[in-house]
Amino acid sequence: MPSICFVCLGNICRSPMAEMITRKLVTDRGLADAVELSSAGTGSWHVGESIDERAAQTLERYGYPVHPHRARRFDPAWFDTTDLVIAADDDNYRVLLELAGRRHRSKVRRLREFDPEANGDLDVPDPYYGGPRGFDTVFSIIERSCRTLVDMLVQHSAPEPQALAGDEQTA
Ligand code: 4NP
Repeated sequence: MPSICFVCLGNICRSPMAEMITRKLVTDRGLADAVELSSAGTGSWHVGESIDERAAQTLERYGYPVHPHRARRFDPAWFDTTDLVIAADDDNYRVLLELAGRRHRSKVRRLREFDPEANGDLDVPDPYYGGPRGFDTVFSIIERSCRTLVDMLVQHSAPEPQALAGDEQTA
């Protein structure tokens, strides 16, 4: 089962949003049990905290369930058991590459590599110090990126398209 960990700075805004958005998208495609999802931060300031209230409200406003969340700091040992470690911005990306070393660096990606509207801007902006509108922008970027990511997961996980079309799951 592929395992994906989304990583931002604090693990209270962007990466839990990406995790919860992706969780709903894979569930809607009948793949909830086919992929393991998690999130973490490169910093430790918010370890143990729940998702930021503004991030939670934004997810709910767009119809995404908010799950219980406890912020964690990314542990480099997780590279051994994780297939993709997806960074929210360039700062996180650099930290993760450093932690990955040569052995695991191909697992480290940036979320906006999957954003069809990135136009060369590979950062999900940090919404923490901005107003609530910042969360709308960040939500749109993350949702676009996660949709593409899930499309790719579906393509890789389905032995044949009919297998999905015949699935009992409803979208
Ligand atoms: P996140 O947002 O990295 O998307 O969870 C942030 C949360 C906290 C801080 C910065 C960004 N902070 O500086 O405390």
